Amino acid sequence: MANDSEAEPRSRWDVLSQTGAGTPMGELLRRYWWPIAGASELEEPGTKPVRLMGEDLVLYKDLGGRYGLLDRHCRHRRADLSYGYVEACGLRCNYHGWLYDETGSCLAQPYEDLAHPEARLKDEIRIKAYPVEELGGLLWAYLGPEPRPLVPDWEFFSWKNGFRQIVKAEIPCNWFQCQENSIDPVHFEWTHSNWSVRLAGAAGPYSPRHVKVDFSEFDYGFQYKRIRTDTSAEDRLWTIGRVYLWPNGLFTGNHVEFRVPIDDENTLSVMWHFSRVPKERELYVQNSIPTWQGPITDPETGRWITSHVMNQDFVTWVGQGSIADRSKEYLGPSDRGIVMIRRRFLNDLDAISEGRDPKAVIRDPAVNRAIPLPVAERKNFIDGFTRAEIMRDPFSRRNLQGYIFQTGQPAEVREAFLAAMGFTEAELAPPDDRFDPLAPVSRAV
Ligand code: FES
Ligand SMILES: [Fe+2]
Repeated sequence: MANDSEAEPRSRWDVLSQTGAGTPMGELLRRYWWPIAGASELEEPGTKPVRLMGEDLVLYKDLGGRYGLLDRHCRHRRADLSYGYVEACGLRCNYHGWLYDETGSCLAQPYEDLAHPEARLKDEIRIKAYPVEELGGLLWAYLGPEPRPLVPDWEFFSWKNGFRQIVKAEIPCNWFQCQENSIDPVHFEWTHSNWSVRLAGAAGPYSPRHVKVDFSEFDYGFQYKRIRTDTSAEDRLWTIGRVYLWPNGLFTGNHVEFRVPIDDENTLSVMWHFSRVPKERELYVQNSIPTWQGPITDPETGRWITSHVMNQDFVTWVGQGSIADRSKEYLGPSDRGIVMIRRRFLNDLDAISEGRDPKAVIRDPAVNRAIPLPVAERKNFIDGFTRAEIMRDPFSRRNLQGYIFQTGQPAEVREAFLAAMGFTEAELAPPDDRFDPLAPVSRAV
């Protein structure tokens, strides 16, 4: 039985895992645009059920090409609008034919319009509706108060000559512990490098050690920096680092990972991945960005899949519990960045309660143009490499040999990737046993 003490917050950070409408953090998160699908998932008109921050919704594209995001349930008698059918303008309920547009207006009530036209009942009907915009091949939703800000136009969305893919997964835990991983350089050594050694059956050698990490805030997020035993203060992973993209992203250079709250205990992981084609393949133009969703559980064992970079991350996130209990943590010096971002969110809760915008809300169109971000290998993705240079670099070559970030890439995406890059499977050697993604070498793909 619940009692008052159980209802008390256990830690000052607990508020940060809320996502629901009306909760402080839920209201803060609603001040931002969230990627909810790849545009290629709705290339043809149709519907797609979406759950976002605990709200059940339906995303659709009508026959006129307009996107809408409506309450999942019809305003009449609550039928599921993801089974509705799209019209020239709007989405029609499959139960009694009420038709809604993307603003939430009811355009038609077929029986009432015919039998009782004078009543004009539809004029008073509104259904919950949220704006949707497309940017970078992603569909973005905004659930917050007006005036809505701009969808951030990060620079990588307009990088040229890249094969892009959008990779999704549904993770059964709270979004915020997933996002804390975006400012955690040391985990790379243990979750990825060393664990991969052990998963491959070897006992070593282990990765170079992290000897120094640093964190700093900038307008659009935080930078995290590292020096390992194999690098110096000259290395770009120290002088520039990588980006915690505010509020929900991790930008590493060749990809950005967004953590999107489905509800308090489930997260949609949305990765937008950029593979620069060799210079010999320029100008390469990709007309549609494929979107795919990978599994996270091994059907044979029922255990989490551990073979790929992000799958390894998923294991750590779900391992923290469906909502991590931060009263039981023991934070160390490597967690300084985690504390910085938690404090920033708490400060921004104050900001919105005082009527101010929280961090990284962008409203000025002059600012919102290919916003540059401080990421270590930025120049490489813009300038590119030749085929020979790619083949000489272990990390770039390994990225050609197979998709390392998440399991389940469909064969047709693999084929399209190789065609874009101008390589055939046959000319790529089998994957190296060992490679180190953070090694101080140039990286291309
Ligand atoms: S329930 Fe949707 S039109 Fe009746
Ligand atoms: Fe990771």
